[in-house]
Amino acid sequence: MTSPSTNSINPTAPLAAIVLCAGQGTRMKSTLPKVAHPLLGRAMGSYPLERAFEAGAERVVAVTGHGASQVEAALLRALPSRAPHIEFALQAEQLGTAHAVLCAQSALADFKGDVFILYGDVPLVRAETLRALIDAKTAAQSPIALVTTLPADPTGYGRIVRDEQGAMRRIVEHRDASPGELAIGEINAGLYLVSASFLWSSLARLDRNNAQNELYLTDLVRLAFEADTPAATVVADVGEVSGVNDRVELARATRALQNRINERHQRAGVTIELSDTVLIDESVEIAPDVTIEANVRLKGDTRIGRGAHIGQGSVISDSTVGEAVEVRPYSIFEEAIVGEAALIGPFARLRPGSELAARVHVGNFVETKKARVGLGSKANHLSYLGDCDIGAGVNVGAGTITCNYDGVNKHRTVLGDGVFVGSDSQFVAPVNVGKDAYIGAGSTITEDVPEGSLAIGRGRQVVKVGYRPEPKPKSRG
Ligand code: UD1
Ligand code: CA
Repeated sequence: MTSPSTNSINPTAPLAAIVLCAGQGTRMKSTLPKVAHPLLGRAMGSYPLERAFEAGAERVVAVTGHGASQVEAALLRALPSRAPHIEFALQAEQLGTAHAVLCAQSALADFKGDVFILYGDVPLVRAETLRALIDAKTAAQSPIALVTTLPADPTGYGRIVRDEQGAMRRIVEHRDASPGELAIGEINAGLYLVSASFLWSSLARLDRNNAQNELYLTDLVRLAFEADTPAATVVADVGEVSGVNDRVELARATRALQNRINERHQRAGVTIELSDTVLIDESVEIAPDVTIEANVRLKGDTRIGRGAHIGQGSVISDSTVGEAVEVRPYSIFEEAIVGEAALIGPFARLRPGSELAARVHVGNFVETKKARVGLGSKANHLSYLGDCDIGAGVNVGAGTITCNYDGVNKHRTVLGDGVFVGSDSQFVAPVNVGKDAYIGAGSTITEDVPEGSLAIGRGRQVVKVGYRPEPKPKSRG
């Protein structure tokens, strides 16, 4: 969550972050750069950025390379409120992690403080772990702290080499490691907190004397040891610091994030019937005593009020649902506002600009769009209500349609308070119906109806008494 209060911790030094987002992610087999792939509704790469802000970073530099403009757009879209504090640095060629960090140097030229270095494809890292890095670095009075972990299989990772006292001597990359070093189980997760002054002065001293002929960011650890200020470490769970490299791992990360988010809501008083099947974006806010049935999806900027009940299979995006609202199964909301104790669905579709007041009923197979509906009004069956202002206490009969589109422009239908609309009526907008008016069933209303009157606009019924059709000629053969 992007609550500003999470920034109010009091770190000893100002904080910034560099998030490495330049890699292509070949194993995703995608034209979309890896960190732009959505993870519960927003770019995977945005999660480490958000965690850095939550841990107190004032500014974040994302280093982009492959698909830079797509990645930049995806990150800004994911974190609109953080956008003023996000900068981008281009790494045109991916020459390793140290080179990537160097690409961010000019953006942070005037920054004095501590810098987080994070990976855009390690989305599950928690702000608590980043705060633990601050504490560990402060306690050790070291210029660098980093996250390590103990995976089941350390193949491919940099190994943590400690001395007899347990101080971190250096990190040895897999390809440079001796057989003895390959047996080390503790690995470098690749997440750091480094003093800016130490970072830039050390990077300037690195060479490419290694198996990959690369500048190794991990050499900072050796430099810290040689300066008698060995790196501090925080040990994290493997799951939290695992990178996402392909779509199997993306699905695993989605599930892990889903569990984390759903458990947070459950502990805060939300009943989630079958948690495995419910996907809630991190940005969604849910009050206590809400019940969420199976297969529900809550997305984006959505807020659910106390005591609301969200029926099975409903998908609610960027919407505000009031207290004690009942959403019956399989209803779809997009940019809608629903007042308290409203009753929606089953199978209702609220499209953008639907603003329903308290105690409104919108029933099965009713679609609303740019529709303001007043207190307690009801449209219970099979209607299209688009571009309309419906007053309070209105009864909209089954099968009512607002004909809002003339082929070029959209027009509004206005129904005053207390209007009664008979079933199967059409309003050819623009049209106004005064309050307490009646519309006869089956009417096509093309002209305004004054307050308190009855309008009927339909073909008259004709009855032919004693009518017998001509007998049909008998078919032959
Ligand atoms: C690095 C560490 C290794 C650690 C591992 C953890 C170094 C030298 N090694 O390995 O000790 O165990 O991370 O995963 O740092 N990236 C860029 N630009 C680049 C290179 C990488 O943006 O030029 C990004 C990648 O997209 C990825 C992250 O940085 O998100 C890590 O890159 P990767 O190549 O996986 O790390 P290694 O260097 O193999
Ligand atoms: Ca590499």
